[in-house]
Amino acid sequence: MVLKVGFIGAGGMARNHMKRISTMPNVEISAICDVAIEKAREAGRIYHASVYSDFHDMIDKEDLDAVWIAIPPFAHSDEVEYAAERGVHCFIEKPIALTLEKAREMERAAKKYKIKTMVGYHWRQSQPIRRGKDLLAREGGPIGLVAGFWWGGIAGGPDHWWRRRELSGGQVLEQTTHIFDLCRFLAGEVKRVYAEFATILNADEPNFTVEDVSVVTLRFRSGAVGFVTGTSGAKPNGGFVGLRLFARNLQLNIDGTDRICVFKDRERLEFTSIGDPVYDEDKKFLDAISMDLPTETPISEGVKSLEISIAAIKSAETGRTIELPLPVS
Ligand SMILES: NC(=O)c1ccc[n+]([C@@H]2O[C@H](COP(=O)([O-])OP(=O)(O)OC[C@H]3O[C@@H](n4cnc5c(N)ncnc54)[C@H](O)[C@@H]3O)[C@@H](O)[C@H]2O)c1
Repeated sequence: MVLKVGFIGAGGMARNHMKRISTMPNVEISAICDVAIEKAREAGRIYHASVYSDFHDMIDKEDLDAVWIAIPPFAHSDEVEYAAERGVHCFIEKPIALTLEKAREMERAAKKYKIKTMVGYHWRQSQPIRRGKDLLAREGGPIGLVAGFWWGGIAGGPDHWWRRRELSGGQVLEQTTHIFDLCRFLAGEVKRVYAEFATILNADEPNFTVEDVSVVTLRFRSGAVGFVTGTSGAKPNGGFVGLRLFARNLQLNIDGTDRICVFKDRERLEFTSIGDPVYDEDKKFLDAISMDLPTETPISEGVKSLEISIAAIKSAETGRTIELPLPVS
């Protein structure tokens, strides 16, 4: 059976998914939608797909099995709800929404209509990280400290949505979310968050209204403590994205999705990449649909990881410690 998929959004990340999906057997990119129709047309020409500027039309007119949703945080409206009601499965890029209320509406619709969902937290698909997680579970013992880092530059140019708080939600919501999700993947749920944000390093950049330095401290339900720090003020070649985890019997040093080192007593193991995490998440989602299996990172995971960012923002705004889960409004 050939699965027919559509795209909502035809920007940078959507094109990354298209490139991979187009190489897979038994799947066809049938339709592509972007509010900027030229972008949809450009991708449509490459993949011989129908093009739309409104996803409601696309879902109504095409007989799709699944959609890939890759639009900026501010742009989420009713795409998951609309697709779910029509039995169309949804892959959705992180962060799944700008607000927790919107994220929970999506989750409710997915549950109600029993569609399959998968969130684009592709770090979970890194083979080196998965090997580290296995070792941690088997031999690690109690986790004590988790230290996460997203030190990079500004995404996009002066007019890009990323640098505007009302559009992206800020670096902690839009980008550092990968590291919060990784913390949850390796160390379990978080019960308390405290954060400090400032805008200092890029304060002179035009249209720049998001935090550019952040520290978020975490208390895990297990008792472990952690922090995740972010900046968009790293100099070229001066960034670092990764995580350090200290358990009683081993230490994990994660440097991006491609490389991890595990330290055990005097032993040092190094695992390097043997895969493409974005390819793997796309393939696993399609396989889950074909074989009617549960997905590894359903939308409920997207809600929980978003919740940490929302709690951090709330803490930075109020100066208070925030307990999770946040109340349902
Ligand atoms: N997993 C990752 O590592 C990763 C990397 C980059 C981006 N992302 C995520 O992917 C999403 C998109 O980011 P991007 O970098 O591709 O952004 P982008 O700006 O390159 O593309 C977004 C596209 O969405 C379109 N769009 C906006 N609203 C729309 C709507 N209602 N219907 C259809 N199209 C709409 C825009 O016109 C634009 O072409 C974001 O959530 C981002 O966080 C994930």
